[in-house]
Amino acid sequence: MATLPTDTRNNGGSLKGIRGPILTFKADPFIVSNEDDCYDHYTDGLIVMQDGRIVDVGDYRDTAPRHPALTEADIDRYGADSLIMPGFVDCHLHYVQSPMIGSYGDTLLNWLNRYTFPTESKFRDKEFADEVARIFFRQLLEQGTTTANVFSTTFAASVDAFFEESERYNTRMITGKVLQDRNLPDSLRDRDTEESVFIAEELLKKWHHRGRQLYAVIPRFAPTSTPLQLRLAGDLYRRYIDQGVYMHTHLDEAESEIAWVKELYPDFDTYTDVYRHFGLVDRMSVFAHCCIVRPEEWDVLHSAGCGVAHCPSSNLFLGDGEFKYWEAKESGRAVHLGIGTDVGGGTNFSVPRQLGEAYKVAMLRGRSLNALRSFYLATRGGAETLRLDHTIGSIAPGYEADIAVLDMEPSEFAAWRLKFADSIFDRLFILMTLGLDNLNKATYVAGKKVFDRHRADTYLYAADL
Ligand code: GUN
Ligand code: ZN
Repeated sequence: MATLPTDTRNNGGSLKGIRGPILTFKADPFIVSNEDDCYDHYTDGLIVMQDGRIVDVGDYRDTAPRHPALTEADIDRYGADSLIMPGFVDCHLHYVQSPMIGSYGDTLLNWLNRYTFPTESKFRDKEFADEVARIFFRQLLEQGTTTANVFSTTFAASVDAFFEESERYNTRMITGKVLQDRNLPDSLRDRDTEESVFIAEELLKKWHHRGRQLYAVIPRFAPTSTPLQLRLAGDLYRRYIDQGVYMHTHLDEAESEIAWVKELYPDFDTYTDVYRHFGLVDRMSVFAHCCIVRPEEWDVLHSAGCGVAHCPSSNLFLGDGEFKYWEAKESGRAVHLGIGTDVGGGTNFSVPRQLGEAYKVAMLRGRSLNALRSFYLATRGGAETLRLDHTIGSIAPGYEADIAVLDMEPSEFAAWRLKFADSIFDRLFILMTLGLDNLNKATYVAGKKVFDRHRADTYLYAADL
């Protein structure tokens, strides 16, 4: 896994530290049977950072002496009312739906037509896109999310606005132009299929690996692309997959959607087969939802090494299917699994609040999801889903220093309630179940504290720190 601690005596930029209770994951609790092997918990820990990366972590007592150049003034301290964790990873959401989150939903397809498409049509206007991107990033950072796999929309302006704001915070983010050339209003539809993929490639060349930004080829879902667009999207993806470009789309979310795919693509046995036929199912592919999946589809997703984003609050809100994590993680055909808020189908920006909903969705089928597994999915599991688990999602030497500081006493009542809980995972379970909106107090991105609830400038861009 992680590399060894770096000797920081005489190389690199200045050192910074974060001291306090720390929790991080190092192995998959869906696979490893001994839970204690899956995480490290330090009640008084120290993270040492340099040039945006973690160089060391451990008990304060053991770690501090290894870094004599790290002075007390360089260390941010958090007490027993805090928990320092890797920043959360949101594996699927739509920043362009921030202006219509919470719109009345009856069915997925009606909700898309009535609220989503008209809102996304406005992103032709760069100034509007800039404003939404600015608000959106504040929401993510306030909730402790440091990496997200995001849908923009049809227009290049929506992609530029997103990446420009991400660059200001120096966040590691993924987006791309959404490819959609049929079954949408003219105001949103790609009018020229070949040109749409050409624009996507231009954006890819502009943004992929520029700083921490990463590009995804994003056909919205099979019903809103012609077969030609899916084929060209597949060709583009395959040309760049070795450079770490993603493919991101929706799959098997609701019965009505699956029936529509069957109508539009009658020659294919399954929805997954449609994507596979066009070269879209591969090791950098991420599929959102996957609520109603046939066993043969799980086999295909597993064999290709795909990632899946479970989006429980959205699935409940839109009345889609019920995600079955035990199918996704079935031994011998498991997929990489992470959590998505799916804003604006999801009803809030908080990954921990999704965990409370994921528990309830599982319980509908008599399966529970404990806090260890849940917070794994929210951090390291998400990083695996995005194939970034050597870079983000853990607090370990060599990893990028993206960190959330949770408030373990987010309300007077929560503080009182937690007095009756013992272990760290008992306490985390209670917090994810209470579903509070202010669970995060500070967020570090590449070692810089870009969000601090108690600072006069609550949000600061990296260049201002
Ligand atoms: N399927 C295709 N587009 C969308 C979308 O915007 N939201 C959700 N939840 N499902 C989709
Ligand atoms: Zn979505």
